[in-house]
Amino acid sequence: MEKSADTKKEVKYYTPDPSYRQNSWIGDYGRAYSEFEKDPEAFWAKIAEKLHWFSGWERVREWNFPHAKWFVNGKTNITYNCLDRHLLGERRNKVALIWKGETGEEERVFTYRQLYREVNRFANGLKKLGVVKGDRVCIYMPVIPEQVIAMLACARIGAVHSVVFGGYGASALNQRIVGAGAKIVITADMAVRRGKSTPLKHVIEEAIINAPTVEHLIVLRRELGRPVEIHGEMEIDFYELCKDVSYDCPAEVMDAEDTLFILYTSGTTGTPKGIVHTVGGYMVGVYYTTKYIFDLKESDVYWCTADPGWITGHSYVVYGPLSVGGTILISENTPDYPDPGIWWKMIEEYGVSILYTAPTAIRMFMKLGRDWPDKYNLGSLRILGSVGEPLNPEAFEWFYEVIGKKRCPIVDTWWQTETGMHMITTVLGEPMRPGFAGKSIPGVVADVVDKDGKPVEPGRSGFLVIKEPWPSMMRTVYNNEERYRRYWEMIPGCYMVGDLAIKETDGNIMVIGRSDDLIIVSGHNIGTAEVESALVSHKAVAEAAVIGKPDPLKGNTIKAFVTLRVGHPASDKLKNELIYHVRITLGPIAMPSEIEFADSLPKTRSGKIVRRVLKAREMGVDPGDISTLDE
Ligand code: PRX
Repeated sequence: MEKSADTKKEVKYYTPDPSYRQNSWIGDYGRAYSEFEKDPEAFWAKIAEKLHWFSGWERVREWNFPHAKWFVNGKTNITYNCLDRHLLGERRNKVALIWKGETGEEERVFTYRQLYREVNRFANGLKKLGVVKGDRVCIYMPVIPEQVIAMLACARIGAVHSVVFGGYGASALNQRIVGAGAKIVITADMAVRRGKSTPLKHVIEEAIINAPTVEHLIVLRRELGRPVEIHGEMEIDFYELCKDVSYDCPAEVMDAEDTLFILYTSGTTGTPKGIVHTVGGYMVGVYYTTKYIFDLKESDVYWCTADPGWITGHSYVVYGPLSVGGTILISENTPDYPDPGIWWKMIEEYGVSILYTAPTAIRMFMKLGRDWPDKYNLGSLRILGSVGEPLNPEAFEWFYEVIGKKRCPIVDTWWQTETGMHMITTVLGEPMRPGFAGKSIPGVVADVVDKDGKPVEPGRSGFLVIKEPWPSMMRTVYNNEERYRRYWEMIPGCYMVGDLAIKETDGNIMVIGRSDDLIIVSGHNIGTAEVESALVSHKAVAEAAVIGKPDPLKGNTIKAFVTLRVGHPASDKLKNELIYHVRITLGPIAMPSEIEFADSLPKTRSGKIVRRVLKAREMGVDPGDISTLDE
């Protein structure tokens, strides 16, 4: 540990052993950043050249504010880079994917060659159903190898996947299927959680009732003992579909700007936003950051604990690590089942060297005490990563000491569904400042500004923005160009992230939290409006307002204020019923922890509910200016 002085206060930095910098792919941060600044296009071209292109690009970048094209007219396929490229080289029999069941007993292992074959076979199955380039395919599955295989199979043939996290309920799922106009939905009969199987198929059945674009439902049947029924012409068994098809499916030639996937993320309105990512720029962005931010090396065993259903899983379970040729561990587990030692046991067993997880998990382990991790040998770890919400200094220190044994650097990576790749972190070898994500990575220009786009003074809070386009930036919001433009129009010339942040004199950026109406609960973004509209869809509810309440473990919990319709008296039973209603509509992740019945809600004269006032009251602080409120 090193102490050095900031202008005002003592600041604690943690400096990793110099060997980290010396042996890293990225080398010296300052040098890499100035190489980028000198010639951004040459910087990105040098990275893109390491990947396979069927034919090269004509221009690296075309920037017509607020639309960017990258690697213009370049032709490639991301799965060629994640699979074929490795088979041609020395990774044919290297382990690509290890899957663990939740108790740590069940295991499935795929070499690059095996994964290639499975992906091709399923891709041919999709073709048999008439899926062609540009068709949308919804994937609603638990964390099992077939989830990854399904994603890659879509990308192989140019179909656009829209993965929906398996914890969402029927209505949230329906909205996403309809939004994307999915032709095919891929699911499994069940997910496993805490020793129990949770049926999934009935959720899908309900979700596709009003989804006219859906032609087929592909069901992976895991419970071989008592297989779930497959009905009629529309439903097909996952492996039945793969019977009698070839293991060979050439990768579709994709333009760099063709869509790779849509991923829905909660917005500030009730409707989720379908974030659109394209093949070329996204591929270069996730390849670059996996290799240079995580420093993924040939011998690493890499474990990102996120579900592939979130952006973290898309970029850093599937596409990033496979494009680099890494060995990936995935697991369908709950961190404390069958006991809170399961993660540490897996790290010991597989010799995991890079662990990428979320502050909410770290805080949970902190609470359970160090006895659990101390039972296992964590000596294989060399790099720790964090993502999803601010890593508070206490959690940083615990992670650093108890898990990393004061040896492993922590990369606290700030980024978003919209950015596709890491944007801010402390690059390997640089001094780490607890509580601060770090600085713009080479390739990115982030800053903290006021509403006019002027940088704010060090130490003061402002809006986090990105000032230059980057390859893996979202290209649009699906079927909502206006919403896309809004990201770039709120602050002159900048991409508005939606987070508040502070930049210190040392250049480090601390992300404080969202500046809009999103609540981050256990690392998941929940739109207040989504929960509110779920509540008002209940017959007893007149109006609802939802706020995030700081929580030491989950970051935030959801509290809902509800006014009732006449004839529906308030009761504890009704509270439970409303919580259950949100659970089945949106899924367990969006469930309020608390419901308060109110006679009325604070509103502006134009009738907009002012959540800020409710939040201030809840926290016991001054609500600020309330002069615009309706009496
Ligand atoms: O508020 C920031 C927070 O998560 C938001 C993005 O959420 P999502 O699109 O779901 O992607 C999550 C995984 C990339 C951001 O606007 N966030 C993400 N990473 C961090 C963070 N806040 C602080 N520190 C981070 N490292």
